[in-house]
Amino acid sequence: MNCKRLSANFISLSSVDSTNNYAANLVKETNVANGTTILTKRQYSGKGQRGNSWLSEDEKNLIFSVVLYPSIKFDRVFYLNIVASLAIAKTLKDLGLAVKVKWPNDILIGDKKVAGILIENQLQGQLIKHSIVGIGLNVNQKEFPKENKATSLFLEMGVEQELEIVFNQFFKYLDFYYDLLEQGNYKVLLSRYYESLYRYQQWSRYSTNETEFFGMIKGIDETGLLIVQTESTVKKFDLKEIAFLR
Ligand code: BTN
Repeated sequence: MNCKRLSANFISLSSVDSTNNYAANLVKETNVANGTTILTKRQYSGKGQRGNSWLSEDEKNLIFSVVLYPSIKFDRVFYLNIVASLAIAKTLKDLGLAVKVKWPNDILIGDKKVAGILIENQLQGQLIKHSIVGIGLNVNQKEFPKENKATSLFLEMGVEQELEIVFNQFFKYLDFYYDLLEQGNYKVLLSRYYESLYRYQQWSRYSTNETEFFGMIKGIDETGLLIVQTESTVKKFDLKEIAFLR
């Protein structure tokens, strides 16, 4: 594979608790190359966002974690979410799918989740020592619990996909967007993110702990907070502070 920044160093495991945990232990023990990716067919203790677990049927989906050593300062760390989201979105758009990125980084088709991203960073002062970008992408799974509001490429397209082909395409785009990040091309990354952003510039319903309200997503600030225009003012929200309502 021809990459600008990342080394295509892929480690395949038949089974693991969590590829993110495995990658975290690996970077502690050895100096692995930028882009080193741990893939598995079976993950029995997968971690999701907000302390949730990530469930994925054995052998059906892409489950992997990429080790990155970005040279950005910590206040730009949200750009890693942007880079990973764009790489998944572009991979799926190439397959003809109408993909949206729900801030901060759920990948949706319609209003169903097809992929999730869990990024774990190790900091050193103002800098990022390393990042582990964990991704679960539902590819060939045919059934999900209804309450999960999940989908897969198979359910959207009606045909199974080769996991390796989808992954290779993803990795190519990851390298592309990561290169933009390392070049400091924040503006381009942000405008691409807005092109795919779910509910961008649309009036919709949201809630906080205190209230429900109508709002319109205007963008994200440089630290990744969501900027929402309400009927009376403009507010910024952290991940835990706002919920999207139907
Ligand atoms: C989410 O809740 O949306 C994030 C899900 C992230 C799941 C992936 S699967 C590969 C990697 N290893 C983990 O334990 N979690 C991430």
